[in-house]
Amino acid sequence: MNAAWVPFAYLVAAVLFILGIKGLGSARTAPRGNAMAALGMLIAIVATLAMQQVVRFELIAAGIVLGAVIGGFLAQRIEMTSMPEMVALLNGFGGAASALVGGSEFLYRHNHVPDASLGMVSVAIVLSLLIGALTFTGSLIAFGKLQGLLRSQPVTYPGQQVANALILLSALALGAAVAASPHSMPLMLGLVGVALTLGVLAVLPIGGGDMPVVISLLNSYSGLAACATGFVLGNGGLVISGSLVGASGLILTKQMCEGMNRSLTNVLFSAFGKHQPAAAGATEERTVRAFSVEDAAIIFGNAKRCVMVPGYGLAVAQAQHAAQELAETLEERGVNVSYAIHPVAGRMPGHMNVLLAEASVPYEQLVEMEDINPDFPETDVALVIGANDVVNPAARKDETSPIYGMPILDVDYAKNVFVIKRSMNPGFAGIENPLFYNDNTMMLFGDAKTVLVDLVSATKET
Ligand code: TAP
Repeated sequence: MNAAWVPFAYLVAAVLFILGIKGLGSARTAPRGNAMAALGMLIAIVATLAMQQVVRFELIAAGIVLGAVIGGFLAQRIEMTSMPEMVALLNGFGGAASALVGGSEFLYRHNHVPDASLGMVSVAIVLSLLIGALTFTGSLIAFGKLQGLLRSQPVTYPGQQVANALILLSALALGAAVAASPHSMPLMLGLVGVALTLGVLAVLPIGGGDMPVVISLLNSYSGLAACATGFVLGNGGLVISGSLVGASGLILTKQMCEGMNRSLTNVLFSAFGKHQPAAAGATEERTVRAFSVEDAAIIFGNAKRCVMVPGYGLAVAQAQHAAQELAETLEERGVNVSYAIHPVAGRMPGHMNVLLAEASVPYEQLVEMEDINPDFPETDVALVIGANDVVNPAARKDETSPIYGMPILDVDYAKNVFVIKRSMNPGFAGIENPLFYNDNTMMLFGDAKTVLVDLVSATKET
């Protein structure tokens, strides 16, 4: 029998989870939100251990110690830019845990409940197995692609979508069969095998650049699998926390797709990034203006307002500290500096916020896209640091562009635009950027960190 306070403890934990997620919505409140969610998890764990169904504490203690050591070690070692890989692995293990619990409950009923039949628990076991297993292998493939262990390009072959649809249908059919005959070991093993295969085959055709969206979706799946496991175990805490993860993962996935102006179907099924479209206007003879940092420093020195626009290249070059140093140098000379944050700049949600926080950029200097866009016409200098797609005016003007309709930062409206990048290579979407050819745009070619460091010295000397 459960202690009477256990359901109440789960309720308190659930409230802390919700407040924690709310706190994570802004950089300023994120540490407090994180602490609240961690406290909620501690309460949920203590409540679960207090249940009398727990028969052996030694194994649980060993699991906690082992998990804490591995988790602590990885959290210390992992680079900020490798966070998507880490999250992919965590999702995968979450899915595997749900599938294992579903499997062990199947075995228990197989051996001890001879009259088990179709019912809520049977359906919940099937969902734990199906979603948990496909989340496990799908997350491992996503991890492999991001880590460079597998080819990042989409892996496609003729008839792939039909084949995947057939595998999905067989998984659903097997799931229905297992739920209806909860004693059939071959059907259960078949379901797990097909679900594991589905996870691999569904993620292989998706390009490495779209992996953050896939990982967010798999995160949602891992929550749904945990929720199903909560029903299997009759554990309200797990049902609530699983549904919170499922819902928040889905909302994040939707927001990422909106930020890219792409549908989830397009991300999952279009093999984006396999064949880069020919750069529009690439054949036209157009020239860009390459500037030296010394000349740029003079314009910076005369500016009153400067907006820095970080992008993926800033993350690649690890130029966040140099950007912050330039901002400080400019502020000492009376320039008002802020950072424009595009929702999908970089390659993971909040990528730029995390990098700039690492360089101790004050939160109040980070301004979201909708809030900063009206300010660009009044901006003397927009400094684009390794960003490309998120400042591409084709998204606003060119109906034929693959990114047409994607919300962008309107840097082209600024009085002067400097762009730091190494070459004329395109960004993630693989398309040309007309911004670079505008009369008010000046290119500062080179690695973002090197150029910024030089710019700091040149600005100090002018
Ligand atoms: P991108 O459009 O990918 O452009 C990055 C630019 O950085 C490139 O043009 C590259 O040009 C430059 N670069 C790379 N390394 C550099 C270095 N060391 N120094 C200086 N420049 C460097 O980046 P963005 O503007 O941030 O846009 C993000 C893109 O990723 C969007 O298309 C978005 O839809 C997509 N995406 C985002 C997410 C999330 S959640 N953030 C998830 C999936 C996809 P060079 O090679 O010439 O230097």
